[in-house]
Amino acid sequence: MTQNAYSHAAIAGSGSFLPSRVVTNDDLAAELATRGIETSDQWIVERTGIRQRHLAERGVRTSELATEAARRALDDAGMAADELDLIIVATSTPDYVFPSTACLVQANLGNQGAAAFDVQAVCSGFVYALSTAEAYIRAGRARCALVIGAEVFSRILDWNDRSTCVLFGDGAGAVVLKACDTPGVLASALHADGSLMKILCAAGNVAYGEVTGDPFLRMDGQAVFKQAVTVLERSARKVCAEAGVSVQDIDWLVPHQANVRILNFLARKLDVSLDKVVLALDKHANTSAASVPLAFDMARRDGRIQAGQLVLLQGVGGGFTWGSVLVRV
Ligand code: UT7
Repeated sequence: MTQNAYSHAAIAGSGSFLPSRVVTNDDLAAELATRGIETSDQWIVERTGIRQRHLAERGVRTSELATEAARRALDDAGMAADELDLIIVATSTPDYVFPSTACLVQANLGNQGAAAFDVQAVCSGFVYALSTAEAYIRAGRARCALVIGAEVFSRILDWNDRSTCVLFGDGAGAVVLKACDTPGVLASALHADGSLMKILCAAGNVAYGEVTGDPFLRMDGQAVFKQAVTVLERSARKVCAEAGVSVQDIDWLVPHQANVRILNFLARKLDVSLDKVVLALDKHANTSAASVPLAFDMARRDGRIQAGQLVLLQGVGGGFTWGSVLVRV
């Protein structure tokens, strides 16, 4: 078979993994109250839709969550790790400065020889990684890719800042993307506007043996909210036009899980029923690069997303970055 015998890529399996510790809004409010920080289940649910999050124990690393999600995705695809020739991990909370988290996952899985690298596009990371893997496959440079979004975001939260610490959780999601002769990924579009860096960033680093800058996530929530609604709508319309389908043809929207009010606005702007929007943030909160594959895997496994359906995956977040991938599953 020649390298370019297959000109398309399709999702062959998915998997996800969450740390076992569930922290409800009430648990979190009680914990923050011991330090004089006031919040409530009512505020968090009304403003965000989040009811609980999974938080990794101190010391648990992103590669561990990513590896578990990857094993489940490989299992779902009926594939072995040695069949992979590309591994991409989207994360903003890598285990180390280097090597990449993708290399650590590769070693954990026992794969040898696949290309492995991380993608850094914050909450858009998974769609960036999926679009990149699809381009490799379509170009004949890879046949079978593992694409993971994984985060231990609790590591970079300022637990004294109630405007951010209640919003995020930890977790990982993965898909196996395989070369095939009929299109699975129909269209994708990635975008960024680096001039908006300040509205969502963790502007710190390790340098000269110490942490320089600010090690915590900082966000102008309202500015991010407005950008998210605008770019997600524009991006959805763009990929649908590119694929020659109408927005109304989409069976499931799987947008980045940050705030239920963003998802409501998006559905209204696109004139799509809310019943078609996968909601996972009530259970997982915002898991950054993991949020889209976690929601996708959850909706596949509970039977909502069925084979043959049209699914729009969308990310948006720090950078500022955003993107969409339209897939026939
Ligand atoms: O993953 C990247 C994508 N991220 C996002 O998409 C996040 C987008 N932004 C949002 O989801 C929302 O802007 C937030 C949920 C972050 C904030 O909601 P908001 O409706 O924009 O609230 P706000 O920032 O305007 O704050 C309203 C009030 C403030 O009090 P005052 O000034 O009105 O007295 C805040 O101090 O709510 C207060 N507040 C809280 N109160 C209780 C902020 N955080 C909390 C809290 N508990 N945790």
